[in-house]
Amino acid sequence: MRQIHICEVGPRDGLQNAHQRMSTEAKKAWIRAIADAGVEEIEVGSFVPPKLIPAMADTGEIVAFARTLPGVKVVALAPNLKGFQRSLEAGAHKVTFPVSASRTHSLANVRMTPEQMLEEVRKCAQHPHPGVEIEGAVSTAFGCTLQGEVPDDDVVRIAAGLAEICDCVALADTVGYANPAQIRRIFRKVKSEIGDKLEAAHLHNTRGLGLANALAAYEEGVRHFDSSMGGLGGCPFAPGASGNVITEDLVFMFESMGLRTGIDLDRLMAARKLMVAALPEEPVYGHMALAGVPKGFRAAA
Ligand code: COA
Ligand code: ZN
Repeated sequence: MRQIHICEVGPRDGLQNAHQRMSTEAKKAWIRAIADAGVEEIEVGSFVPPKLIPAMADTGEIVAFARTLPGVKVVALAPNLKGFQRSLEAGAHKVTFPVSASRTHSLANVRMTPEQMLEEVRKCAQHPHPGVEIEGAVSTAFGCTLQGEVPDDDVVRIAAGLAEICDCVALADTVGYANPAQIRRIFRKVKSEIGDKLEAAHLHNTRGLGLANALAAYEEGVRHFDSSMGGLGGCPFAPGASGNVITEDLVFMFESMGLRTGIDLDRLMAARKLMVAALPEEPVYGHMALAGVPKGFRAAA
C-alpha cells in the first residue's frame, strides 16, 4: 500500500519549458522507464494548440502509448473544451485544468479570466466523460511573477468553484514563491472550505523550498504530490517559472521517513539517465543524482 502518491509531471511540465525538443520515440522510452520504476501516475502531455507549444504536438500518440503501460494512470492537461475533447479521444484516464488564482497569469496563460476559465471547466465537466477523472488545479496559488501577491481569498474562491465541478482539486505553486508557513496556512484554509476534494500539491523548487514545502503540505494531510524528474519544468507563460520539485529527491525524502511511495529509487535513476541522454543540453537538478543513495539506506518496507 502506497502512503504517498506521486504523479510524475516531467513529460508535461518539464518538456513544455525545455529548450530542447525530445523526440516522440525518446518520450515513449522515458515514460516506459518511469512506469517501470513504479510511478503510478504520469502527466504525459497537454492538449494545447501545437503552434503555441510545439513540444506537446505529439500528446495524442503519447497518451495512446502510455495507456498500454499496465498500472499507470495517464494524465493530460487541457486548457479548454477542445483540449478536453482531444484528451478523451486519445484515452487519458485523468484530465487536469489549470485555473490561475492570479487574473494576470490567467490572461497570459489561457487568455481567459479566472472566472471565464472556471466556466470553461464547467462546460467540460458537463460534457460526457465516462470513467475519466477531472482535476482542477489552482495555478499561482502562492504568488505570481506577473501580478505579485495573490490574496488567499482568491485561492479559496477558485478552489471552491473547482470543487463543485471537479473530482479533485490541486494547489499549484507555479512560480516557486511559496514558503512552508504559507503552504500550511493556505492548504488549511482551502481544506476547511472543500474538505477531501483538496488532493494534490504541485510544487516548484524555483527558490529551493520545494522539499520543505512538500513536507509542510504532508503535515497538513496532503498525500498526493506532483514532481518532475531532474527538476525540469515551468510555465512558458509565467516569466521566471522554473523547475518542479525533484521526483528523485522527493521519493528519497518520503521513503527515508518510512513512508511508502511504491517507487524504486534505482529504477528511477535509470529513467533519469534516459531523460538526460535525450536532452543532453538541458540543465537538470537533483541531490540524489549528485550524492547517491546513502549507505545502508532502506526503502520504506
Ligand atoms: N488544442 C488544439 N487546438 C486548439 C485548442 C486545443 N486545446 N484550443 C484552441 N485551438 C485552436 C483553435 O481551433 C483555433 O484554431 P484555428 O486558428 O485553426 O481556427 C486556434 O487554436 C485559436 O483558438 P482560440 O480558441 O481562439 O484559442 P486562443 O488563441 O484564445 O488560446 C488557449 C486559448 C486556451 C487555447 C491557449 O491560450 C492555451 O492553450 N493555453 C495553455 C497554455 C499552456 O499550456 N500553459 C502551460 C500549462 S499551465
Ligand atoms: Zn507546474
